[in-house]
Amino acid sequence: MSGIAERVRKVPVSGIRKFFDLVLSMDDVISLGVGEPDFITPWHIREASIYSLERGHTMYTSNYGILELREAISEKVKESYNVEYNPENEVLITVGVSEAFDLAIRAVVNPGDEVLIPEPSYVSYKPCTIFAGGKPVIVETIEENEFKPVVEDIEKKITEKTKALVLSYPNNPTGATLGKGDLEDIADIVREYDLTVISDEIYDRLTYKGEHTCFSSLNGMRENTVYLNGFSKAYAMTGWRVGYAMSSEEIIEAMMKIHQYSMLCAPIMSQKAALEAVTTGDRDVEEMVRQYSRRKKILVKRLREIGLSCFEPDGAFYAFPSIKSTGLSSEEFATRLLEEEKVAVVPGNVFGSSGEGYLRLAYAASHEDINEALNRMERFLTYSHD
Ligand SMILES: Cc1ncc(COP(=O)(O)O)c(C=O)c1O
Repeated sequence: MSGIAERVRKVPVSGIRKFFDLVLSMDDVISLGVGEPDFITPWHIREASIYSLERGHTMYTSNYGILELREAISEKVKESYNVEYNPENEVLITVGVSEAFDLAIRAVVNPGDEVLIPEPSYVSYKPCTIFAGGKPVIVETIEENEFKPVVEDIEKKITEKTKALVLSYPNNPTGATLGKGDLEDIADIVREYDLTVISDEIYDRLTYKGEHTCFSSLNGMRENTVYLNGFSKAYAMTGWRVGYAMSSEEIIEAMMKIHQYSMLCAPIMSQKAALEAVTTGDRDVEEMVRQYSRRKKILVKRLREIGLSCFEPDGAFYAFPSIKSTGLSSEEFATRLLEEEKVAVVPGNVFGSSGEGYLRLAYAASHEDINEALNRMERFLTYSHD
C-alpha cells in the first residue's frame, strides 16, 4: 500500500521538469525551453541585497513582508493601473507567484469547489487546485480565437460549485494577451456568478502591443480579484523567489494565515533586492523588454520561414508554433529534436490537451542561440516526416 496521499499520488510530475532532466544529462544543447530570463539580475539590485546583508539584515520579517516593500509595490500598482491596495493589510509578500497562487487557491477553495482554468496555461494551476481539494475545470482556448478564452465557453462550464476563475495573461505558453474589452466581457460573468478571480499577471510588463490592463482595475473587480505578480520575469529575478498578492483584507488575511504557518516570510535578502527593483528598476525592465521584442520578431519570422505557422505572441517571452503539419505529436517532435539536433523546446501538451500539436519556444535566449536553434529545426523538418 502506498503511503502517499491519494490526491498527491494522482498528480503527475511536471512535464517540463521531466524534459529538463533529460536536457541536463546531455552536452551542447541549445535551450529555448526554460521559462526564465537569460539576463542576470541587474547589478544595483544584487548590490542592494549584498549591502543589506553587510548591515546584518538576516532575520525574519513580518509575515506580510517588509512594510517598505509593500508600500513601494502599492505605489507602483496605483501608478501603473490606478488601483489602490492598503500596504498594511491588502498586500502579502510571498515566495514567488508560485506560493502566492497556492495560497490564493487554498484560501478560497472548499473541498469539491470547481476552479475554471483556461488552457493551455502555466503548469501549476491544475495541480495546486487538486492539492487544495478543489476540482479543476478546463476551458480550452484555441489558436483560431488567438488563444483567448471565449466568454460563452467559460459560461458553459459554470455550475453551482464553481468558485473561482484563473486568468493568466500575458499567457505562458501561448504569448496571448487580453485587451480591456476582452477582460470587461469576462468581468460581466464574474459579476453575474459572483466568482473569485485569481489573476496571475506575472508577465504584465512584458507586453509588446497595446497597454496591459490589470483585471482588478476594472469596475467592481477589485473585491472579487486576487491580483498576483512578482519579480521573477520582469526583473530577471527567478532565483530570488519573491512575489506578491493583493486583494481584499479578508482574502489577504486568510492567505497570510497559511503563509504564516507554512512559510513564515519570504527571505529578507530577497525582499531587500525586490525593494530596490520596484523603486529603481524601471529602466532595466524597459531595456529587457526592448530586447525581448526584437528577439520575438526574429523568432516568429524564422519559424514562419521554415514552414511552421505561428500565432503572433504579444506578451511574455514565448512563441507557440503549430507542428500539426508534420504529423508528429508534440512529445515526439520535442524528444526527437532534442536527441537528433540537440535543441530543447517544450512540447505543448504539457500545458494542457489543447496544447497538443504545438511547441513552446522561449525567446529568453541570445540572438545567436535563437538563430542556431532555428537552423537546426529547419534541418530537422527536412527529414523528420513524410
Ligand atoms: C504564468 C506564470 N506564473 C507563475 C510563475 C512562477 O513564478 P515565480 O518565479 O514568481 O514563482 C511562472 C513561471 O514560469 C509563470 O509562467
